[in-house]
Amino acid sequence: MIKPGDFPQIDQSNIIYLDSAASTLKHVDAVEAVDQYYRYETANIHRGIHYLSEINTTKYEETRDLVQQLINAPKREEIIFTKGTTESINLVARTWGETNLKKGDEILISAMEHHSNIVPWQLLCERTGAKLKIIPINKRGEILFDQYVEMLNENVKLISVVMISNALGTINPVRQMIKAARKKTLAVFMLDAAQAVAHTKIDVQELGCDFMAFSAHKMFAPTGIGVLYGNQVILENMPPYLGGGDMIDEVSFEKTTYNTLPHKFEAGTPHIAGVIGFGAAVKYLLSLDFGEVERFENDLLEYGTQRLLDIPGLTLIGTAEKKASILSFVIDGLHAHDVATLIDKYKIAVRTGHHCTQPLMKFFNVPATVRASLSIYNTKNDIDKLADGLTKIKEMFA
Ligand code: ALA
Repeated sequence: MIKPGDFPQIDQSNIIYLDSAASTLKHVDAVEAVDQYYRYETANIHRGIHYLSEINTTKYEETRDLVQQLINAPKREEIIFTKGTTESINLVARTWGETNLKKGDEILISAMEHHSNIVPWQLLCERTGAKLKIIPINKRGEILFDQYVEMLNENVKLISVVMISNALGTINPVRQMIKAARKKTLAVFMLDAAQAVAHTKIDVQELGCDFMAFSAHKMFAPTGIGVLYGNQVILENMPPYLGGGDMIDEVSFEKTTYNTLPHKFEAGTPHIAGVIGFGAAVKYLLSLDFGEVERFENDLLEYGTQRLLDIPGLTLIGTAEKKASILSFVIDGLHAHDVATLIDKYKIAVRTGHHCTQPLMKFFNVPATVRASLSIYNTKNDIDKLADGLTKIKEMFA
């Protein structure tokens, strides 16, 4: 799937990396773009007319064009750079949410959301009197679609759902969910695409969502950068989020007017190197055939599922029919943290814990799971090493 040199960490490290849902490895072009900025080309953007400021402004704004292309957003102004998915969701809650919601309104989220798609809405409910309602799931980790449709009514003003669950791997039927919502409500629909963008082709126009949030560090790019895609009309009508430099048109002590989109939502000096590195990673993503990516990762998922299910006492948490390359599991008689600590001795990196989805862990009645998450640079050999290591750990405690 990948070429030698694409991901330096793969070539230079002896650690098998199975934690891409937490953060992907970085593509060489992203690393080099960041290095170039810090080593030879540092300058601020949008402010200077000197050469270095101009080349960085150009590169920074090129990333916006590349992201627009990647998700097929109608306009470049609809791409707002944030710190990450969490900030993108908080931005919508604090601006759109606080100006549009009132007592009696309802917000729908699913039972498999990450804390970043739960807590901002809870805070919003505390401030506005709106009510948070939870779309139920079944024991495979799939949204109960009929029950979701029953929850739709004219009081529902916002729906925010994860496209691919970070803890289970479930691929949610978000296109059908948006269609159903449009028939019965005027709700704004937000998608958390953090686990989706590096694994599947995204087209916001085809999906028909109003907002989408995702993070660069799960797309082979630096940490500290993310995107909020928003429909232009909705963004225009939202008040700014953070106040400061760059987001203004004119400031006086009596009154301040705001900059146009997207700058209205990008106050202060941004993570310039991060955005430039992100641009390089998005170029790489645009060069991939997502059909091939999906086939490759599905093949790994099927193989991994078989290998893990052969281990006595191992239970997969998250067995949806439509699933991305995430293998969350528990092993009888062993705490997830112990499994992760022991597997680390075999130089295998997996994540353990609640994966920022405590309500979901409660639903499955487990305190934590071990999670192996796969990406385009993983191989069947990586999965064999994991399965062999787990088998040995299981035998140690037999
Ligand atoms: N949300 C990230 C994960 O699932 C950090 O690990």
